[in-house]
Amino acid sequence: MAKMEVKTSLLDNMIGVGDMVLLEPLNEDSFINNLKKRFDHSEVYTYIGSVVISINPYRSLPIYTPEKVEEYRNRNFYELSPHIFALSDEAYRSLRDQDKDQCILITGESGAGKTEASKLVMSYVAAVCGKGAEVNQVKEQLLQSNPVLEAFGNAKTVRNDNSSRFGKYMDIEFDFKGDPLGGVISNYLLEKSRVVKQPRGERNFHIFYQILSGASEDFLCKLKLEQDFSRYNYLGLDSAKVNGVDDAANFRTVRNAMQIVGFMDHETQSVFEVVAAVLKLGNIEFKPESRVNGLDESKIKDKNELKEICELTGIDQSVLERAFSFRTVEAKQEKVSTTLNVAQAYYARDALAKNLYSRLFSWLVTRINESIKAQTKVRKKVMGVLDIYGFEIFEDNSFEQFIINYCNEKLQQIFIELTLKEEQEEYIREGIEWTHIEYFNNAIICDLIENNQTGILAMLDEECLRPGTVTDDTFLEKLNQVCATHQHFESRMSKCSRFLNDTSLPHSCFRIQHYAGKVMYQVEGFVDKNNDLLYRDLSQAMWKANHSLIKALFPEGNPTKINLKRPPTAGSQFKASVATLMKNLQTKNPNYIRCIKPNDKKAAHIFNDALVCHQIRYLGLLENVRVRRAGYAFRQAYEPCLERYKMLCKQTWPHWRGPARAGVEVLFNELEIPEEEFSFGRSKIFIRNPRTLFKLEDLRKQRLEDLATLIEKIYRGWKCRTRFLLMKKSQIVIASWYRRYAQQKKYQKIKSSAIIVQSYIRGWKARKLLRELKHQKRCNEAATIIAAYWHGTQARRELRRLKEEARNKHAIAVIWAYWLGYKVRREYRKFFRANAGRKIYEFTLQRLMQKYFLEMKNKMPSLSPIDKNWPARPYLFLDSTHKELKRIFHLWRCKKYRDQFTDQQKLIYEEKLEASELFKDKKALYPASVGQPFQGAYLEISKNPKYKKLKDAVDEKIIIAEVVNKINRANGKATSRIFLLTKNNVLLADQKSGNIKSEVPLGDVTKVSMSSQNDGFFAVHLKEGSGAAGKGDFLLSSDHLIEMATKLYRTTLSQTKQKLNIEISDEFLVQFRQDKVCVKFIQGSQKNGNIPTCKRKNNRLLEVAVP
Ligand SMILES: Nc1ncnc2c1ncn2[C@@H]1O[C@H](COP(=O)(O)OP(=O)(O)OP(=O)(O)O)[C@@H](O)[C@H]1O
Ligand SMILES: [Mg+2]
Repeated sequence: MAKMEVKTSLLDNMIGVGDMVLLEPLNEDSFINNLKKRFDHSEVYTYIGSVVISINPYRSLPIYTPEKVEEYRNRNFYELSPHIFALSDEAYRSLRDQDKDQCILITGESGAGKTEASKLVMSYVAAVCGKGAEVNQVKEQLLQSNPVLEAFGNAKTVRNDNSSRFGKYMDIEFDFKGDPLGGVISNYLLEKSRVVKQPRGERNFHIFYQILSGASEDFLCKLKLEQDFSRYNYLGLDSAKVNGVDDAANFRTVRNAMQIVGFMDHETQSVFEVVAAVLKLGNIEFKPESRVNGLDESKIKDKNELKEICELTGIDQSVLERAFSFRTVEAKQEKVSTTLNVAQAYYARDALAKNLYSRLFSWLVTRINESIKAQTKVRKKVMGVLDIYGFEIFEDNSFEQFIINYCNEKLQQIFIELTLKEEQEEYIREGIEWTHIEYFNNAIICDLIENNQTGILAMLDEECLRPGTVTDDTFLEKLNQVCATHQHFESRMSKCSRFLNDTSLPHSCFRIQHYAGKVMYQVEGFVDKNNDLLYRDLSQAMWKANHSLIKALFPEGNPTKINLKRPPTAGSQFKASVATLMKNLQTKNPNYIRCIKPNDKKAAHIFNDALVCHQIRYLGLLENVRVRRAGYAFRQAYEPCLERYKMLCKQTWPHWRGPARAGVEVLFNELEIPEEEFSFGRSKIFIRNPRTLFKLEDLRKQRLEDLATLIEKIYRGWKCRTRFLLMKKSQIVIASWYRRYAQQKKYQKIKSSAIIVQSYIRGWKARKLLRELKHQKRCNEAATIIAAYWHGTQARRELRRLKEEARNKHAIAVIWAYWLGYKVRREYRKFFRANAGRKIYEFTLQRLMQKYFLEMKNKMPSLSPIDKNWPARPYLFLDSTHKELKRIFHLWRCKKYRDQFTDQQKLIYEEKLEASELFKDKKALYPASVGQPFQGAYLEISKNPKYKKLKDAVDEKIIIAEVVNKINRANGKATSRIFLLTKNNVLLADQKSGNIKSEVPLGDVTKVSMSSQNDGFFAVHLKEGSGAAGKGDFLLSSDHLIEMATKLYRTTLSQTKQKLNIEISDEFLVQFRQDKVCVKFIQGSQKNGNIPTCKRKNNRLLEVAVP
């Protein structure tokens, strides 16, 4: 098995030379060859001392994995092969352990890999610094701010597909433990001209393409956008798609990052609305209008886009439309409104778009800062990471490139200041022997640009502020006058160019010989861009927007806060912020990453010697190596040095009482460090070789470990001893307590034993005494008993006698008492208990009965005999009584009822009763008769004079006087007759005359026949041979048949004492003269209504049809 390789030095397995300081021989060719060799072996990092040279590999290398992070973590800078991680680790540890604020300065031209390098540094620091939920959130927010800013601030240029179009400096803040607390981002001048126009082959900012490719249809619809890039004038079309870039996926990443950084949903929405509005502004087009008052006017071609923008941003359409057509100028408190011609309108539109976007970008930075700012006020250590747009030379270079290159110039300056110049000056200051090394100092170029009187920026500002017509050409003229003699400035009109006769330089251009090369700037647009003018009407229109974000972006639009002072120009603003940055960087310990671009094709594996050579030259890398080589790798003031290493020498440990320098001398002598390896400066010790430093560090580490062991040993000893002493003390306490307890126990035991022994003796003594006392007592008792027995015998004898006597007396008394008792019992037995049950029973029964009757009294039904009500039976045993009572009550109330009757009523009821007995359930006519009172004398014969004769003829009492129909025996026809019944006779008289036709004594009436039906026919049968029977029986019909038959029956009974035979049959025989005729009742028709008809059928038959 192969032994695992453990690296202890960058010299191990080195390809070429890892640190250029070790390069031999040192010249440009060997330098480039070394870089190339390493590049070909995928070694993209090389050191110059502590500076890292990074060559963009243009491909992903497997050297940024978490394993690599672990490998470089807490290792010395020169221990492993050169890596950006080593620099990051060094910076982080120095910040954490030595409390030195750090800055990482990443320089190089566009596309050299600065942004990537800055991200690598940040991710390394994030990986190695503290962990924990809160810390992780801070880290995540810091890291996620990158994709957001890149989306809005980066764009594809011809040099770099992801070129930073803004400068960025980020301070990462840590606490004393090295845990990140938060961060602050500063941004520098966004190249906003890109929003409205992009050079050929370049794109607008990424976010526009991302939003169109990645947003859902729904979201696009909300933003009133369409997916098609070609719909938007502001999007350069020729390279809308970038190879290997997935805009849609990036959009998702950006949204996600915004969420992590802490953007609220409505904020994200507002941001995208502004982006959409900017994009749509480009689609507003203008056409010329007729001239009014000799002035050109423009008009918006298609207002649809304007309408949508206004809807998106909540701006009043008329306000915005006016702002695109007029410009108000305020002068001496007077407002003058002038119309805008087409060109001015387009200028206004683009200015608005640029301003809107760049202000949005600045807002984003502020908003991110709000999220990532440290939450505590504790002292912070800071690591700044500077990733600024790289030096760039385009075909057409304008104001932006001028600014960008100026910035790079300043960075080079600070590099020179801090490394080359400062280093050399320090040697001199410290009195160290030193041979000066020549290098190009670009301070002169910085001066050309930023000098307050004669600098280009000052000229530009002066020109912008000058009254009168100001154009880019007048600016160039001015430059030609002021800078003509400057050796780094060239223009067609300047002296230099005249001598050079440089016709390649066009008229409207000037050229600056930057540290990194000559750049020709087109003067066109300089004035405008520096002025950065936005018509006040537009900013006021924006301020009026009903969109909180847009409103906030244009605070100067607030009409109440009009500021007539000119805002600072873009150039002066940038100069000021760069100056602040430089000041800031100078307070920190710098760490350099110098990025080099290997080719112009953005391709992997290609190493263009000339291009690299050019960069090495202008970056001054060779000089850097030379200075490094001639000098010392490390220096430190004596105090911290002694403080750090004093433990390595007995004299200096733990305290050195003399001056620090003497201490360091003693220390170095003691350690036997070769003299050529170090030099003593005035205030610092200089160490030539890093290895010496490493040796010192290793010794220190070893010694610290020993010291730690010693401390540990002493501490352990102390701990054990304290523990022992404590245990000993405890043992004594425990032992004393235990002894006390044991003695207590023993004492208790002895005490209880003594008590037992004592009690035994006492017991024995007591028992002895008891025995004696008992004996004495028994003797006494014996005497007493004997005496008692004697007295007893005497007494018993006496008692027996007395008893005998008493018994006899008692027997008599008892017998007497028994006898008396017996007598008394016999007398009072009935009162005794033996009868009590029956008594109670009877009493109860009586009581119940009483109650029953009392209740019944209250519940009695009415006295009406037909009332069927009767209270329910309360007691079962009274069942028969109850029934009987009911019966008796009924009988009683019937009697009561009857008792009310007068004799006459009684008679009537007797008759009715008789009728009931005779006809009930026999004759159908009967039920109808029950309700009819029996009147008897229907005809009032005595009162009617017509019947005076009849009255006179009948002197008896008339029982019935009624008109009946007599049926003719021959034909069955009916004739009316008066029917009279007296006490003795039945009479038939003529109805008209009252002459008596027939008179039959009641004794001659043998029978009365009638049908069972509902008719009034009846036959009166006469005794054969009687006087009245000559003509035969009478067949009569009456409405009061029942009454008549009843009365006839009763009268006959009372007179003759014989019961009259009443035959009820539907067929009976009657004697007509000599014939016996059968009267037959049949069910007849209803022809005659309800009146029955009678017909003589033949000699033998008379038919009565009853309806
Ligand atoms: N270490 C690296 N590994 C792999 N690819 C890299 C590395 N560094 C840079 N690149 C590639 O080079 C491209 C350009 O790098 P980067 O954007 O960092 O350049 P820059 O120096 O920031 O340029 P600008 O000044 O234009 O912003 C990256 O998009 C990436 O594709
Ligand atoms: Mg960049």
